[in-house]
Amino acid sequence: MHDIIRQLDEKRAAACLGGGQKRIDSQHAKGKLTARERIELFLDPGSFEEWDMFKEHRCTDFGMEKQSLPGDGVVTGYGTVNGRLVFVFSQDFTVLGGSLSETHAEKICKVMDHAMKVGAPVIGLNDSGGARIQEGVASLGGYADVFQRNVMASGVVPQISMIMGPCAGGAVYSPAMTDFIFMVKDSSYMFVTGPEVVKTVTHEEVTSEELGGAITHTSKSGVADLAFENDVEALTMLRRFINFLPANNREKPPVQPTNDPAERLDFSLDTLVPDNANQPYDMKELIIKMVDDCDFFEIQPDNAKNIITGFARMDGHTVGIVANQPLVLAGCLDIKSSIKAARFVRFCDAFNIPVVTLVDVPGFMPGTAQEYGGIIKHGAKLLYAYAECTVPKVTLITRKAYGGAYDVMSSKHLRGDVNLAWPSAEIAVMGPKGAVEIIFREEKNDPEKLAQREAEYKAKFANPFVAGARGFIDDVIMPNETRKRICRSLAMLRSKKLENPWRKHGNIPL
Ligand code: HXC
Repeated sequence: MHDIIRQLDEKRAAACLGGGQKRIDSQHAKGKLTARERIELFLDPGSFEEWDMFKEHRCTDFGMEKQSLPGDGVVTGYGTVNGRLVFVFSQDFTVLGGSLSETHAEKICKVMDHAMKVGAPVIGLNDSGGARIQEGVASLGGYADVFQRNVMASGVVPQISMIMGPCAGGAVYSPAMTDFIFMVKDSSYMFVTGPEVVKTVTHEEVTSEELGGAITHTSKSGVADLAFENDVEALTMLRRFINFLPANNREKPPVQPTNDPAERLDFSLDTLVPDNANQPYDMKELIIKMVDDCDFFEIQPDNAKNIITGFARMDGHTVGIVANQPLVLAGCLDIKSSIKAARFVRFCDAFNIPVVTLVDVPGFMPGTAQEYGGIIKHGAKLLYAYAECTVPKVTLITRKAYGGAYDVMSSKHLRGDVNLAWPSAEIAVMGPKGAVEIIFREEKNDPEKLAQREAEYKAKFANPFVAGARGFIDDVIMPNETRKRICRSLAMLRSKKLENPWRKHGNIPL
């Protein structure tokens, strides 16, 4: 018995050492934690239950038969975050660069299968040189097994990828199918083909960082949702993020009691919207003042800044917030913002998170760049997302709600449950100037007459009452009571039940 226990201790110690002390030191020298250190920091202390620590690869090519790699480059298992169950896999770069072998993939698949069975999130801490080159097609098969599970788990349990090192080749497609991708600045990158191949094929010279670093993907491509300074910040924020989410699609998010009264008034909001309709203001100010404890977890803050998306709580309950940002491109909807918001709305809908929409939108962005880029199809994604969404939807129009964008932004017509407006709301087909230039084209050479027409149009439509008269707006509220009115609406909607007709799946314009 003693022998067995000694053997067990030795085997555990060997597995915990991964690729050996030298490689651990090299990982640390790069400012990166090891796979196990990351898990320790991420999960509640002492909660980690590890599986498959002794699992080994089966490769017999290229001298691999002589290499024993207990755990095979990935640490897997489950534990808790603030007492709530999560499954986790953490790739160990010290073991053959965290490369994915057939057995490495099997370990990931095992935690994914269990997460699906019990209904808990899957968190991947990615740090890998991609497919294990020595294994060839066996490792490609392993990737595909993971991909298939990513798709089956999509909309069933939350899946989050934290990219903490290289992620190259087809390996990027597993994170790409998860709900959120977070990255660590300066030490992580994602690309389909690396700088060397890019140079050969397109003659472009580009560094790994420029091609697929955290800044690139959070500000240019929109592939990643957030970038963090280092491993510690990334894992701490990941814990905070998970608190907003339910464990699966059959549960509601956890309620976090707050001392911030749901009926709190904020009189500073009464002067947020400037008198001049062309003057911007910061929509984030409204968000911060409206939500519990000013706590807003923004998603994609550096991509498509003309729309704001993120999670907060109202009266203790998680909400997803989508808001036009008048500070950027006057809050216009364009290709990037439509895609960003559509994906966010669909996540909220899949995971029982009510959507609060704050509207100040002058319309869709005009121009050849947008049309050639397919704004019609991309804009339709947001329209589709809101229209199919069955979770509680509360909408507030603060100022402009013009044209198709009025319809799109969770309007009454797309099954908005409660649609409110501030007195400053202007709900019309387009802005007064554009409108009169079209209707009264024959008067275009008479600026005085045109100005008078514009004033008439403004008086008629630059208010919330025309829409209110039709019931498209349920009430016109004072800005100071925004939090109170939205909290009450959400409380009223808590038992909302709405189902879409049966179908295999819809056909969202991709
Ligand atoms: C096996 C690998 C490996 C891999 C790295 N290693 N990548 N072993 N298969 N894919 C090993 C190295 O041999 C080395 O072993 C150790 O990991 C650390 O690698 P280094 O190169 O020393 O580290 P670094 O300088 O930091 O560079 C990291 C790297 C580089 C940028 C990831 O290793 C690299 O370019 N690797 C190959 C990446 C790649 O082409 N992967 C295949 C992509 S295609 P020792 O023993 O020296 O410590 C793909 C297809 C998936 O993934 C398709 C799915 C559909």
